[in-house]
Amino acid sequence: MFAVLAPLPAPPSHYREPLRIGAVPLASRFVLAPLAGYTNYPFRRSVREIGGVGLCTTDLVNARAILEKSKKTLELLVTGPDDRPLSVQIFGGNAAEMADAAQWLQGYGATLIDINMGCPVRKVVRVGGGSAMMCDTTGATVKLVEQVVNAVSIPVTVKMRLGWDDANHTAPYFAREFEQIGVAAVTIHGRTREQGFDGTINPAGIRAVVEAVERIPVFGNGDVMSIADAARLIDETGCHGIAIGRGALANPWFFRQLDAWVRTGDPGARGSYLDRLAFTRTHLVRLIEWRGHEYAGCSQFRKVASWYTKALRMPKQVQHRFNNLKTLAEFDELTAPFRESGPPPGWTEWDATSAQINVPQGPNSHW
Ligand SMILES: Cc1cc2nc3c(=O)[nH]c(=O)nc-3n(C[C@H](O)[C@H](O)[C@H](O)COP(=O)(O)O)c2cc1C
Repeated sequence: MFAVLAPLPAPPSHYREPLRIGAVPLASRFVLAPLAGYTNYPFRRSVREIGGVGLCTTDLVNARAILEKSKKTLELLVTGPDDRPLSVQIFGGNAAEMADAAQWLQGYGATLIDINMGCPVRKVVRVGGGSAMMCDTTGATVKLVEQVVNAVSIPVTVKMRLGWDDANHTAPYFAREFEQIGVAAVTIHGRTREQGFDGTINPAGIRAVVEAVERIPVFGNGDVMSIADAARLIDETGCHGIAIGRGALANPWFFRQLDAWVRTGDPGARGSYLDRLAFTRTHLVRLIEWRGHEYAGCSQFRKVASWYTKALRMPKQVQHRFNNLKTLAEFDELTAPFRESGPPPGWTEWDATSAQINVPQGPNSHW
């Protein structure tokens, strides 16, 4: 039996036109959304190398920790010449700290500053950052963002959700206000804070944000895992670009495919089984380089190991060994049989997206 594949949607021709955030030109309208714990330098480099990415953003970084130069924070800020344009995402509820951190990041070489107003996690909301900022429509949030915009000469962008809950979709209000004070672009995840990662995105909510602004680009975000999802989001919301998070973890070839689809109508192939295996190894090598120690790099790799082994359909005992990986040599020994044999019978490139990527679970006040 052959699966009947739906025909690919026609690409939106205006997506071929150049897009800028402030004065920064993007090579593509598809950008990597921040995923704390994943979108570090090793992953960004590896995805950029494949091609088609317009912009990458770091994991969210605490503004105060930047000023204190905490070791963990400086690690999150590691980048290189092959990692441009780069947006650094900051969070916090204190305007002076946010502005000072942005200034420091400008000197450090960030291309853009992104302010996190969407994160529902308790440690972020508790300090008045993330989606807590979406509750204040009295002017304090707008003032905070304005202080950051005025502190730097590089473009400042904001990433938000639709609002705290469905009774309070404050995103269109904020987008309009932000445009007036000089924010250069907005990314909008089509869920509320209350929703966490449940349910589906609300395209009408994203469209309301697109319609609220006059000139600045709005990046739609949420649940884009395929070309058809991207086409639907563009069609239903009118967004000027798309930010992709989990879809890029599942398929690092996704940006290249989206870009090819926009330019030619044909997305081309994803990575083969052996390409995936090679990507996995390169990711591990770079994690080791980044953490500066083989054991630390392998520990960090365990975060993605179960995902990668599932995508490669490796047996349970290999998955288990990956979860306890200590050296690169062990990785090579474990994967050698798969490099030789190639994909297991019946493996398809779609296996990789059928597995789930974990998101924060449970009552969201406990995240
Ligand atoms: C594990 C994980 C970590 C995330 N970390 C961040 C973050 O640091 N900053 C942020 O603005 N959003 C963060 N998000 C939200 C994503 O950027 C994105 O808005 C959301 O996952 C929906 O997009 P997607 O379906 O393309 O992944 C995170 C999401 C997940 C699943």
